[in-house]
Amino acid sequence: MSEKVEESIFVGLDETLRRSRMEWSAYASKYDAVCAYNPAYQENIRALVKRLPDWDLPDDANILDLGAGTGNFVCAMGKILPNASYLHVDCNADMNHRARQKYSDRKLNVSIVQDYLQRSVLPESSFDLIVCVNVLYAVAPQDLILRRMKRWLKPDAKLFIIDFGRQVEIIDWGLYLLKHVAEAYGVRHSIKALWENIEFAKQNRNAQKDFANGIFKQHSTQEFGQLLKSSGFKVNELATCYRDYCDLAVCTPER
Ligand SMILES: C[S@@+](CC[C@H](N)C(=O)[O-])C[C@H]1O[C@@H](n2cnc3c(N)ncnc32)[C@H](O)[C@@H]1O
Repeated sequence: MSEKVEESIFVGLDETLRRSRMEWSAYASKYDAVCAYNPAYQENIRALVKRLPDWDLPDDANILDLGAGTGNFVCAMGKILPNASYLHVDCNADMNHRARQKYSDRKLNVSIVQDYLQRSVLPESSFDLIVCVNVLYAVAPQDLILRRMKRWLKPDAKLFIIDFGRQVEIIDWGLYLLKHVAEAYGVRHSIKALWENIEFAKQNRNAQKDFANGIFKQHSTQEFGQLLKSSGFKVNELATCYRDYCDLAVCTPER
């Protein structure tokens, strides 16, 4: 990759750090509590897990999770591929702290790299699978990051990617979660859960502003497919998910 391209990756990171209102540490403190209440999040995990057996991954596969957060996707893969080697990359110490605890409890072979994707230097042609769930929208410039992912993958390997493409609608999500918590645990519990996790809503409001200000990237499903193709991927599957707020794709590097 030329130095000019490297430089624009750093410009993307600097711009995001300077302008973004998102506080990932505040998000981390409530992340797992809210995800546990969120059926759409659990569906995203199932979308990955149900595809794993079709991909003929070796038992000792090398798997990279980019923006791995509190480690929920690695833990889910670990149930099916317990002997795989996992590399977890995420910029946030609080997210990583929570993930580290889970990996240790499950005795999974996971290395954690705490860094921005824009700054990560990883070995080329090394991974059998890259997972990247709800991270790319926050990692500009997206096309250059995708080109790096392509280089990190082995020739016939897979990229499983889910990405927020549409503006976060706080009221819609709040009502959705309240309804599900009320159905599962009762109305009193749902109000208590809302109160306890108000910081999560606050961070989603910050994300909403970042989307509106163009710091986080929005896309239609079709635009997402185009972005993946123009960044060097063959798109094998493309669909909407996460209540139509996100796009899901399964890709292989174009030769
Ligand atoms: C919405 S969470 C998704 C976490 C995880 N993939 C999941 O689905 O549970 C987004 C994650 O991306 C991380 N993140 C945001 N910008 C990043 C960047 N530039 N480089 C690395 N990680 C980043 C955040 O720290 C956070 O853990």
